[in-house]
Amino acid sequence: MPTPLPALAFGGDYNPEQWPAAVLREDRDLMREAGVDLVTLAVFSWAWLQPRPDAWEFGWLDEQMDDLHAAGIKVDLATATASPPPWLTHRHPDMLPVTQDGRTLWPGGRQSFCPSSPVYREHALELCTRMAERYHDHPALALWHVSNELGCHNARCYCDTSAAAFRTWLRRRYDDDVARLNDAWGTAFWSQRYDDIEQVLPPRVAPTHANPTQQLDFARFSSDQLLDNFVAERDVLHRISPGVPVTTNFMVMRQTPQMDYLRWGRELDVVSNDHYLIGAEDGGHRELAFSADLTRGTAGGRPWLLMEHSTSAVNWQPRNRAKRPGEMIRNSLSHVARGADAVLFFQWRASRAGAEKFHSGLLPHAGTDTRQWREVVELSRVLDAVEEAAGSTARNDTAILFDYQAWWGCELDSHPSIDVHYRDRAEDLHRALSAHGVGVDVVHPSTDLSSYRLVVVPTLYLVDDATVASVTAAAEAGATVVITYFSGIVDEHDHIRLGGYPGAFRELLGVRTTELLPLMAGESVQVEGLGTGAVTADTWAEDLELAGAEAVASYVDGPAAGLPAVTRRTVGEGAAWYVATRLAPAGTDRLVDRLVAETGIETLPGAGELVEVTRRVGDDASWLFVVNHGDDPAPVDVHGVELVTGRDVAGDLQVPAGGVAVVRES
Ligand code: GAL
Repeated sequence: MPTPLPALAFGGDYNPEQWPAAVLREDRDLMREAGVDLVTLAVFSWAWLQPRPDAWEFGWLDEQMDDLHAAGIKVDLATATASPPPWLTHRHPDMLPVTQDGRTLWPGGRQSFCPSSPVYREHALELCTRMAERYHDHPALALWHVSNELGCHNARCYCDTSAAAFRTWLRRRYDDDVARLNDAWGTAFWSQRYDDIEQVLPPRVAPTHANPTQQLDFARFSSDQLLDNFVAERDVLHRISPGVPVTTNFMVMRQTPQMDYLRWGRELDVVSNDHYLIGAEDGGHRELAFSADLTRGTAGGRPWLLMEHSTSAVNWQPRNRAKRPGEMIRNSLSHVARGADAVLFFQWRASRAGAEKFHSGLLPHAGTDTRQWREVVELSRVLDAVEEAAGSTARNDTAILFDYQAWWGCELDSHPSIDVHYRDRAEDLHRALSAHGVGVDVVHPSTDLSSYRLVVVPTLYLVDDATVASVTAAAEAGATVVITYFSGIVDEHDHIRLGGYPGAFRELLGVRTTELLPLMAGESVQVEGLGTGAVTADTWAEDLELAGAEAVASYVDGPAAGLPAVTRRTVGEGAAWYVATRLAPAGTDRLVDRLVAETGIETLPGAGELVEVTRRVGDDASWLFVVNHGDDPAPVDVHGVELVTGRDVAGDLQVPAGGVAVVRES
């Protein structure tokens, strides 16, 4: 009988190989004090487990597994394949990754391997097999953790091995037909026509812009190769260790676009995610909220595990901001509110040596007599108090469509403006909807949209016909659809959809744009029609004609002065809105006012710019989560039992400044 995961797990990465025995003994006591019930073990232990090609040393790990079990702590056991040991890369330097401009990424850091390397694959699978054989029935084992953050540092490798693997992938994609590849890549341009797929290379640094479809296919290939490495290990684990769930930690964050996690999610038994705030950014909790909703999307709406975040500062940003009192608990609860059934950290004890020695941990360098440690203990108590919500999930009436492949396409070079960033509109609309108390699911465009009342389509530059049909059907059936600029521009091969922009969505929206009018850096325009007075917009305008839609708002000035900037068309039982410019947040807020009024969609009580309110729903109960990022208490009209304090509330909940609350609703 496999060991179940704790209901709402608490703990983090544990790296005992970095510490002497006396410290490890202390760890057990302190883990108990902090209420740790799950640790991730052996992530970077390859060189310790296999110090030489023919030597295996599992004794120390056996001891750790047994001790943790004796202490009542469950283990998320890594397959330890994340970072090959020096002896392996020394023997096989051809397994090292190579950058786009031909530089080898040498050992000495971590993840020094080409994802397509057969040498890496063979050695990794041998290690994975031995781990599975040795620990599959260990009572501490609750979860398998394949590798670690696949693609964190080596997502795209341009070496000769990768080139050969890319050609194999292309042969499959184009039925081994060079004519089909030429067609898809538009190689009639610039004399790029291939005579044989054998001549194709990865998009290495070229004298000028590389073929965009080649770049796009290479991005797809690279994501697929990493996923293949996961699947190969997962299959070994399923065979030798049936019944124990297998995960690998995603990096769903704004700074990590390379892996198509919305496709990867289907291959995992349980999705887990790592999330780190960018310290230089004010209001990073908004990006966190968006990423957490997107993580739930990668999990098909099911609960997921927060595998890593930080108690305070990280070490890898130019200036590493420490979290202020209460922030770590707020961050943790935001993830839980959006479906996380575990709150885990990198890492248990802050290291004393190595590149991450300034990275925070559950146990800081200064020890337990610290505010940080007291907050860790308090977080553990809060998680115990709200544990009953584990297993439930968030399910909303509003969807934001998100597609990693559209992200890759949107941010290719040689575009109208470098200022168009794929997640920008998605995050701003998510912010405005959240501030209105509208819960949001962030889902892949292929998701069944029939139950959504509001469907937001931000910057969906690249779109296939099936998505166009399903978005159109949603509007016809009564949903309100909102599409923002630089959507529907190309098909899956990155070929323009002709006849005027926004190509794929022209008919649904009832508009036709004859010319894109990107604005210059620092240039802004005024837009009027969204409530009283004009709002500011920047980055983008369009030469847009109405073709069935009505103008809701128009440009006051700029290159499109007098033309529609926001349009609406009644479609069947629903409506389709188009936003042809980049509204500043005040404009997005007004747009969302209109959408909320038009759809009559539920707004959760008490929500605001600094007050996150979300709901998880289970079979027999629902829980309202409130995370107050503001400096004032937040009143919330909700009835039930507030679990963090254990008090009954009857419409009079006051969430303290910087505090959190979780109410089982009655
Ligand atoms: C993650 C990684 C961890 C640790 C952490 C630091 O990328 O999985 O091992 O390096 O970042 O923030």
